[in-house]
Amino acid sequence: MSDEPILYINGDYLPLSRASISPLDQGFLLGDGVFDVVSAWKGVIFKLDEHLDRFFDSMLAACLDSGWTREQWKEIIIETVRRNKLDDASIRFIVTRGTPKEVVADPRNFDATIIVWVAPYIFLADEKKRKQGVRLMISSTRGFPSDSLDPRYKCLDRLHSQLIRLEALSAGYDDAIWLDHAGNVSEAAASNIFIVKNDIVYTPSTGILRGVTRQTFIDLTREAGYQCEESVLTPFDLYAADEVFTTSTAGGALAVSEIAGRRIRGSVPGPVTSRLDKDYWELRESGKYGTAIHA
Ligand SMILES: Cc1ncc(COP(=O)(O)O)c(C=O)c1O
Repeated sequence: MSDEPILYINGDYLPLSRASISPLDQGFLLGDGVFDVVSAWKGVIFKLDEHLDRFFDSMLAACLDSGWTREQWKEIIIETVRRNKLDDASIRFIVTRGTPKEVVADPRNFDATIIVWVAPYIFLADEKKRKQGVRLMISSTRGFPSDSLDPRYKCLDRLHSQLIRLEALSAGYDDAIWLDHAGNVSEAAASNIFIVKNDIVYTPSTGILRGVTRQTFIDLTREAGYQCEESVLTPFDLYAADEVFTTSTAGGALAVSEIAGRRIRGSVPGPVTSRLDKDYWELRESGKYGTAIHA
């Protein structure tokens, strides 16, 4: 990796220390922007098209227009990764409503701010926790209902995620999940949740960000011959599960060892979690759904 990360920002490739946005940028002032995070492993970006689909959906729903086609996005993303000389990378691309032309700005009149930032590959947990599992609490903060800020927006406004992480860390847990307003399980601060019960795999169907890794694990589960149900889960289902794991671009599956003071029965990671995580990394290394950084 070069000494300093190189960011793409509004038409330029700049070292981090020289990359800046205006303090009036609406992304900074209002959290008015959307983003996505894709990862590269061994020089191959996984499911870039799926991440761009989600990104374009978020932009469309938020009335944001980067002015770029998907192909242009792909080119800039790949070029930014190349310039950082990283084969294992987490790649964040961001569009905000930019800097307003007046103090009280009409949100329809904007020039988007565009940033691509590449960091070394990020795992949600350290190596020890990846082996032994993480401890999750159930947060007192509920997720946004879809008639407020639909969780499918991958938007910059992440204060609620920070609040649930703060609550979890200060209570001695590694992370937290939130429930929806009906008390059903939604997701964790930056990952989706799965349980295994009697060899059937379940994951919440609504009130969630549509994780690209979540869909990959649903597909892998079925390919491995297990039944996978997208359904309504309550905290009781988590407590009584044989296995619980989370999924994210930051590491694939992460086994859970404890939820709100209840130990998960059996070995951690459990057999189904281990099998699916192995399949996930094999899929990544196969190059399927991959975009090579070095053409
Ligand atoms: C709230 C939330 N849920 C789920 C995920 C997992 O999504 P993906 O698998 O696409 O990384 C993320 C990722 O950042 C997230 O922020």
